[in-house]
Amino acid sequence: MTKIAILGFGTIGQGLAEVIATNSEKIKAQCGGIEIKYVLDLREFPEHALGGRVVHDFNIILNDPEIKIVCEMMGGSHPAYDFSLKALNSGKGVVTSNKEVVANFGPELLKAASDNNTRYLFEASVGGGIPIIRAMTDSLRGNEICEINGILNGTTNYILTQMKSSGKSMSEALACAQSLGYAEADPSADIDGVDACRKICILSAIAFGTLVPSVKVDTVGIRNITTQDISDAEKNDSSLKLVARATKLPDGTISMSVSPTFVRNDNPLAAVNDVFNAVLVRGNTLGDVMFYGKGAGSLPTASAVLADVIDLVLCEGHQPKQQLWERCENVISSLPSDAFSDYIGRVGTPIAH
Ligand code: HSE
Repeated sequence: MTKIAILGFGTIGQGLAEVIATNSEKIKAQCGGIEIKYVLDLREFPEHALGGRVVHDFNIILNDPEIKIVCEMMGGSHPAYDFSLKALNSGKGVVTSNKEVVANFGPELLKAASDNNTRYLFEASVGGGIPIIRAMTDSLRGNEICEINGILNGTTNYILTQMKSSGKSMSEALACAQSLGYAEADPSADIDGVDACRKICILSAIAFGTLVPSVKVDTVGIRNITTQDISDAEKNDSSLKLVARATKLPDGTISMSVSPTFVRNDNPLAAVNDVFNAVLVRGNTLGDVMFYGKGAGSLPTASAVLADVIDLVLCEGHQPKQQLWERCENVISSLPSDAFSDYIGRVGTPIAH
């Protein structure tokens, strides 16, 4: 039985406890079982089955040699980054759903994992339950990736779908997304495209080996989208989607953007609705491949966290393989202009990250 600690007992942390309980037999058969020994949170959870395992001091987890794996689901950069670094430096494996930390500090944390003969895994950081990180890292490694186009934020896709199908206003649709556990603690990260931007930075780092700082990506969210924009898309045989994209140009430069986009209805991304996400990846020998699934929500995201935890348990005692990322300065932040999509026009100015 492997003992783990959960950092942050919000939507995803509680989801992880639930999937571990629900699938305990399957987990036991694969890796001998997983026990949540500690839950770190500022709050108490007296009603929860794990309420007695709540601690408020990270050092209890750090200094417990029984804890081999730490699952960071706190959100925000700090102290999530600091705790992850300390855990890696003490030889513990770290699993995260925290895209902000991966997008901001991926190079440092991957290096710390490598230096300490352990791993930093982040399947749940992009696309919720979609197994996109492992697919891009492993299954597509024989390809040069040329381009990635994705619907990477469940909240905004849910809002755009609701505005189109049931005529809800943006604020009504956002309230529903919040009640379903899709939105960030500060939903402006969803609405203004920041969350999608962090995710395309992570995917592009896997594809191209270098992490573009999110502040360099021209990012326009859906804040100023109206029902008129949505019906304009329909009149043009298109659907309005928040599309994140990364392209490697022939000179090696990476071009990236996040923007509301008219996606023609014959493009598979146009049919991606509600909380679903999709990532369309173009490889030089494979051609196009699309990954599709629930991009947010407690259990889908927790299922991706659990897969990483099981991976870490299974690789214990083996020489772990850990990818490394450089930081990339060779980037063009540009709005899409090619045949893939017709940019709707700048609806508001790009956000200052
Ligand atoms: N707020 C995020 C979204 C959660 O809506 O996609 C999953 O990363």
